[in-house]
Amino acid sequence: MLNKIESLKAEISGLKASSEAEVEELRIKYLSKKGAISQLMNDFRTVPADQKRELGAKLNELKNLATETINGLRAAALEKEAADSAAALDLTRTAAPVPQGSRHPLNIVRNEIVDIFSRLGFSLAEGPEIEDDWHVFSAMNFAADHPARDMQDTFFISRNPADVLLRTHTSSVQARVMEQTQPPIRVVCPGRVYRNEAISARAHCFFHQVEALYVDRNVSFADLKQALLFFAREMFGPETQIRLRPSYFPFTEPSAEMDISCNICGGKGCAFCKHTGWVEILGCGMVDPAVLDACGIDSKVYTGYALGMGIERITNLKYRVNDLRLFSENDVRFLDEFVSAR
Ligand code: DAH
Repeated sequence: MLNKIESLKAEISGLKASSEAEVEELRIKYLSKKGAISQLMNDFRTVPADQKRELGAKLNELKNLATETINGLRAAALEKEAADSAAALDLTRTAAPVPQGSRHPLNIVRNEIVDIFSRLGFSLAEGPEIEDDWHVFSAMNFAADHPARDMQDTFFISRNPADVLLRTHTSSVQARVMEQTQPPIRVVCPGRVYRNEAISARAHCFFHQVEALYVDRNVSFADLKQALLFFAREMFGPETQIRLRPSYFPFTEPSAEMDISCNICGGKGCAFCKHTGWVEILGCGMVDPAVLDACGIDSKVYTGYALGMGIERITNLKYRVNDLRLFSENDVRFLDEFVSAR
């Protein structure tokens, strides 16, 4: 038996294997239940008692040697196989073409608007599309008989008990933010709005707006103007000029509409700007003190400015999409044109 142990020792010390499968064969040959070492263990039972001590120790040594050798061979084989398969990868091959989706143009422009205002310290705020009369109209200082409340403009969901309706503008988010927070408030609020209009190239029953609101001590019209200029130049390029025309909104006083120098003809005059050199892009003004008070903000302490714009309008200027219906038809030929856009 001693001889057998010694010859197996010599055999195992010289083992080699070039793959994991070969290592597994060796394990079966020496270490499995029917393997050579188990065989010896069985024979060991019949060894005379006075030899058991010496032979037992040798047998254990043999088993340990076999286990270590085979584990070592396995680790080496696995490493080699991993290295071989990495070498087989051709990293210079062009990737299989994966069809690339695109962002919707309205989302591209929405993100850009939000991004520009976030650089001025505005944070994102959103509100529900299904609203009530208070947030859309009353808190925003619309008189009880204001025509915008009319069925012809507004989609009502229920008249009673509460007026539930689809918001007609994102100004409702102003009211919600002011009710929940005390100044300083600086939020930019993008979202979808609804109006009861016949669908055509120039009007749709839903479209998108972005609202911005800034309320703090000593906010002035000059602050508004500076923010507007910054926005216009970030959005349409550093050469862009702005002009403010007096206007009226129930929720701002004074109110203005902002034009930018036509970014299509550079202000020289073209069909797009009706040869005026200017195009209107948004409404704005100083938040009416009645709106601040209605939303729980002390108008003797705080002032604010607000502005609102249509995302479709900005997208039209940026990408010349002149039929509003394209935005909601999801024609892939149209959407594919924006694959490379931001
Ligand atoms: N809510 C107006 C609209 O739907 C847009 C607007 C104008 C928003 C002036 C404002 C603003 O915040 O100050 O036409």
